[in-house]
Amino acid sequence: MKKLFFLILTATSVAYSADVTLKEPPKTLSKYYPPSSNKMEFLNSMYAMSTAFTGMFTNIQENDWKNAEKWASILKENYLNIGKLVPEFDKGLKKNEINALVEAVKSKDMEKIKFNADAVGKSCMQCHQNYQVSTKIIYHYPSFEMINIEDPVSRTTLEFHNYMKKTADSMKKMRVYLEDGKFDKAQKEGNDFVKRVKGLSQSCNECHNNKLSVEIYQGKELEEKLNLLTKALQSKNKDEVYKTVSWISANNCSKCHNTHQTIAEIKEKFNK
Ligand code: HEC
Ligand code: HEC
Ligand code: HEC
Repeated sequence: MKKLFFLILTATSVAYSADVTLKEPPKTLSKYYPPSSNKMEFLNSMYAMSTAFTGMFTNIQENDWKNAEKWASILKENYLNIGKLVPEFDKGLKKNEINALVEAVKSKDMEKIKFNADAVGKSCMQCHQNYQVSTKIIYHYPSFEMINIEDPVSRTTLEFHNYMKKTADSMKKMRVYLEDGKFDKAQKEGNDFVKRVKGLSQSCNECHNNKLSVEIYQGKELEEKLNLLTKALQSKNKDEVYKTVSWISANNCSKCHNTHQTIAEIKEKFNK
């Protein structure tokens, strides 16, 4: 009985630790990212603070208090600037502590430096925990929702996720017809699948201008496997069909999903 209770407790704590929340940052933040601005004012302020923190502590360690004071002021200026850039962020800032930090550096008071630097540092971490990842996804990652692809089978233009669905559909139907012994239908679906996988290459250039990137998932090796698949369907060689499809799943679909789909889906949720 005791043991069971313990197990339940552990399971609950695991469930808590597995909850990840990504908060949507205030809309004002969009002013400091493309297309509104290419200057990256907000992010640059972040890098400036990070460097200033290092500058302050490096100089304190080396007993160069004049330069330590200079970096502390740069830190303060950029820290307070967060609230000017994004008013919604203003009330979360540790203003007393950042002022006290600059004063502590001026008076070379190590205790107060540590105490206030710690408080300010915690406010950095707290905000990052809530907003840093969501900001990256929203403002740095390109959108797949803008990408349209011409479907080589129906000759219509499809949104990216619909193109994915069609590609997956033709693959699943091919399997179903094969299992049902309907080889002609399987061959038609299989050929559509091959066309769609090849057609996916159109989309890469919308975001990539490096041929090498495209070839990693959509290169010669894939083309060879797709040709093998076409032949296996012609000769009704079920084992060979499954072998090539599982290569394609692992090396085209799964790998590309690992680098693109996860973030694309989170981004879509923010855009809703
Ligand atoms: C009120 C919110 C907030 C506070 C406070 C804040 N940050 Fe940030 N910080 C962000 C957000 C949002 C990003 C993500 C920006 C982006 O990727 O474009 C970020 C990104 C950064 C980055 C870039 C990390 C990377 O490599 O992508 C650094 C460095 C940084 N912050 C340092 C700091 C420091 C140091 C402090 C405290 C002195 C601080 N930040 C306080 C919101 C905040
Ligand atoms: C909506 C934009 C978008 C589309 C469309 C897109 N990618 Fe990407 N891809 C990215 C982003 C963003 C990264 C992360 C690296 C970067 O910022 O360039 C990335 C990374 C990659 C990488 C790993 C790093 C690198 O740059 O080589 C490969 C390989 C890749 N993509 C291949 C492809 C292929 C193949 C296609 C088409 C089937 C494709 N991508 C379509 C946005 C896109
Ligand atoms: C660019 C590289 C890339 C390649 C290669 C790729 N996918 Fe995707 N796939 C994505 C991205 C990105 C999404 C998320 C798109 C979205 O939801 O808007 C996605 C989503 C999907 C979805 C979910 C569609 C939905 O919205 O319901 C399916 C199913 C899918 N892919 C199947 C496949 C199959 C099967 C293959 C291989 C034959 C494949 N994909 C190859 C990038 C890729």
